[in-house]
Amino acid sequence: MLIAEELRNDLRVIEAKRLLIAAVKAHQAKITGVCPPIPSLQQSYEDLLLTFAQFRGAKLWFPFLGSGIGKGTLVELADGSIKYDFIGGIGVHYWGHSHEDLIASSIDAALSDTIMQGNLQQNIDSVGLSALLVQASKLDHCFLTSSGAMANENALKIAFQKKFPAQRILAFERCFVGRTLAVSQITDKAAYREGLPSNVLVDYIPYFNVLHPEESTANAINALKKLLHRYPKEYAVMCFEFVQGEGGFHQGTSAFFKAIMSILKDNNIAIFADEVQTFGRLPELFAFQYYGLEEFIDIVTIGKLSQVCATLFRENYKPRPGLLSQTFTSSTSAIKASQVIIKNLIHGNYYGPQGKIQQINNYFTVHLERLSKKHPELIRGPFGIGCMIAFTPYDGEYLNVTDFVYRLFEAGVLSFIAGENPTRVRFLVPAGAVTNEDIDHVVNIIEKTLCKN
Ligand SMILES: Cc1ncc(COP(=O)(O)O)c(C=O)c1O
Repeated sequence: MLIAEELRNDLRVIEAKRLLIAAVKAHQAKITGVCPPIPSLQQSYEDLLLTFAQFRGAKLWFPFLGSGIGKGTLVELADGSIKYDFIGGIGVHYWGHSHEDLIASSIDAALSDTIMQGNLQQNIDSVGLSALLVQASKLDHCFLTSSGAMANENALKIAFQKKFPAQRILAFERCFVGRTLAVSQITDKAAYREGLPSNVLVDYIPYFNVLHPEESTANAINALKKLLHRYPKEYAVMCFEFVQGEGGFHQGTSAFFKAIMSILKDNNIAIFADEVQTFGRLPELFAFQYYGLEEFIDIVTIGKLSQVCATLFRENYKPRPGLLSQTFTSSTSAIKASQVIIKNLIHGNYYGPQGKIQQINNYFTVHLERLSKKHPELIRGPFGIGCMIAFTPYDGEYLNVTDFVYRLFEAGVLSFIAGENPTRVRFLVPAGAVTNEDIDHVVNIIEKTLCKN
């Protein structure tokens, strides 16, 4: 037996782990619902936020500093308040807060020899994670990395190398691909590239519009054909975000995506799906599986809830040596946690029309539909799919929606904004933690906060 295995099976380790988890549970039991801040902590919390803003050069979007404990969808802040977390650090904490399985895997990681794993030195955990992702996606290769933007950079590099000398990129209007120097040039938001040089050639086509399915599909196809005519053989790749996350939770249909992808295939253009936000959240593990696009996909990226990000690609996109590498793959705790989460997603009855994701969506959206019928002047929607759920409060005007999101935060629910004209309130519901009772409480708080305007 390996020494590492002997350590993992050492009775002292097993007992210590049991005790640690029992201690967490004992303290978690005190977390029972939304609570206001503890008055004696409020001033020091404000000071901490100011100090942090000073260090960062900008204040935090939310006055949120976690204390380090939570229970499922509930999280304790460092001012002693307890809130429902229905945004999870923009989609990262899919298993909620202080989940027993993730604490257990983090203890294993703490006993590992290295904090980080990297491309020069990986432990067996990285092999296990890559195998899971390759099997689940049915793509051939998996390159791990530590951020969604970096996974996307790697995807674009692979596509460009394969399609050289083509240098242009196609993307949808309103897309979000990340914020590095390269991908912020694709992300369709002017403020995110203000003052940056531009050296990536991107052309946009309009996205699907649920209100005008046929017309918007025809518009997108026409725009694509025009561009292909204008720049023949110059496009290397098109980026797809099947549900536009930052863009406002807009979604397309199978038919729409297939129509576009067929043209791309005919023109030898790589099809790249950015699933950094959608991975795991739709009623199939990958959104490209949900929309039945398996035959079209060349490259896929994932991130956020997977803790470790990855670029998955087919054999014929394998890059030549030297193109991809980084010091860090991710932390050992992230790699171990990723395996726990993905294994559970695959084997835990999350997917399909009767799976947990669809059930969560049904339960939450029925409540939100009820609210929008009761208060049509206060709320429109719901929108979204799976565990990506949104609605438009009031007139959808940015400042009013932002104000609502802050008031909701004060009232005990963490959400976030998405899109422009209208701006929506979005939830990335933590599927591995949420209960119907949590949703009942959250909807109750939403209704009260909406009505208090
Ligand atoms: C679709 C999509 N792509 C890429 C990214 C960038 O990921 P990261 O913030 O981990 O770099 C995000 C993050 O919100 C995203 O939603």
